[in-house]
Amino acid sequence: MIPIHVLNGPNLNLLGTREPGIYGSATLADIERDLRARADALGVALAFHQTNHEGELVGLVQAAGAAGAGVLINAAAYTHTSIALRDAIAGSGVVAVEVHLSNVHAREAFRHVSLIAPVCAGVICGFGPDSYALGLDALARLLAGPAASASQD
Ligand code: DQA
Repeated sequence: MIPIHVLNGPNLNLLGTREPGIYGSATLADIERDLRARADALGVALAFHQTNHEGELVGLVQAAGAAGAGVLINAAAYTHTSIALRDAIAGSGVVAVEVHLSNVHAREAFRHVSLIAPVCAGVICGFGPDSYALGLDALARLLAGPAASASQD
């Protein structure tokens, strides 16, 4: 089984009621449930976390690295502010994919900058909960290696 840790940053615990015009009506529990079903089909062992605290997110990235797991991360507002998170991704050696529910590039200018994108393998944004599903597919393929990727094409 491919180990993947899905890490969610601040305020994502409020999904479902938080600015539904931007983030939709799905809750984080809905997203987790759908991802777990997809992970089973992909042969991925999923761990799922949410925290409102920057240091805890850093610790979760480090723990994923120590466990040899890939990271699917919606760092929420810390995407745009956290050098510590960027350093944790770079320093722990994790393969990470950045996801966002909303299209951050169609929003305020401060959301156009991601401090973590340069140390992630790729970025998916703007597809609501499907951003997570697409990110999981991409990360699983990446971690399975080029041979597995070619056989799925
Ligand atoms: C978000 C986008 C961020 O700019 C914002 O701070 C969030 C959610 C998204 O999933 O669209 O909290 O990461």
